[in-house]
Amino acid sequence: MVGVSVLGAVRPAGQAAGSDGARLAVGEWAYFEGRIVPFRDATVSIATHALNYGTSIFEGIRAYRQDDGGLALLFALEHYRRLLRNGRLLRASVPETAERLVDITVELLRRNGTSEDQYVRPLLYKSASSIRLQLSGLDDRISIFSFPLGDYVPTDGLRVTISAWQRVDDNAVPARGKISGSYVNACLAVEDAKSAGYGEAILLTSDGHVAEVSSANLFVVHDGVLATPPVSDDVLPGITRNAVLGLARDLGYPVSERRIDRTELYTADEVLITGTGVQIAAVASIDDRPVGQPGGPVTSRLQEAYFAAVRGRHPGYQGWLTRV
Ligand SMILES: Cc1ncc(COP(=O)(O)O)c(C=O)c1O
Repeated sequence: MVGVSVLGAVRPAGQAAGSDGARLAVGEWAYFEGRIVPFRDATVSIATHALNYGTSIFEGIRAYRQDDGGLALLFALEHYRRLLRNGRLLRASVPETAERLVDITVELLRRNGTSEDQYVRPLLYKSASSIRLQLSGLDDRISIFSFPLGDYVPTDGLRVTISAWQRVDDNAVPARGKISGSYVNACLAVEDAKSAGYGEAILLTSDGHVAEVSSANLFVVHDGVLATPPVSDDVLPGITRNAVLGLARDLGYPVSERRIDRTELYTADEVLITGTGVQIAAVASIDDRPVGQPGGPVTSRLQEAYFAAVRGRHPGYQGWLTRV
């Protein structure tokens, strides 16, 4: 195991944590430059294009402990398909296929030999040493590492605020791309939210509609009907968002993807956020206005079904999982 900060920079084992104080242990092995190598050897030059300009795309994949003690990856193929598809935005080209990346991840988790819940971090990055402001003609590589992760945020009632920072616009840096550089936008919003005592930040589009939370999609519930902003409103088309749309339909709730006004947040019966990291989390208040029924019946039924499915306890959703 190697010491690392969940919110900060990777540090060698034994070195003090930064001001965020959140330390965790990354797996001993990582995928780097086409091979599984010791994590400490997976390093890049300071001249790397991606480090200088944020020209990389990342994913976050969870692996959940199953009842028999083994691990299963959640939506692994969907995450790698999204990674490679988004790579086209950066004119990236790598030899690995999505299927091969799933196999590599399974192998990596086996080598890291843990049965705790894991978070897997794949990165597709411009690996060339170059300061040129261009995308083509630069080498691309994929790296993957993993570390244990429990709940990223409390799932039973988060205090959130609407950020003064606007969500990046599709014509500036595509929000749908999971492009590393664009996450400065999320960091600015979360930094301000946390300094003001909130757990998360909701970002609005440049024309003032609800987009999403820093690293999660958002749903409102009015009179038993779920609504979430359309992907054309500068949101990441979340894989969990998609799963929740399916779960909601299966549970008999009407769902719609439509523009959401800011004031609908204040009048909703329930507000919930979804993402690989946050899973399904209930929102308790927005800008100190209590949500009608935080973690109310719709949120709690969705959570129940989701958390059963990720642990392999829901026969209808076994297809979400890849056994390690
Ligand atoms: C900006 C943003 N929105 C939404 C999500 C949720 O996406 P997913 O459910 O695919 O993890 C994430 C996390 O990946 C994110 O970074």
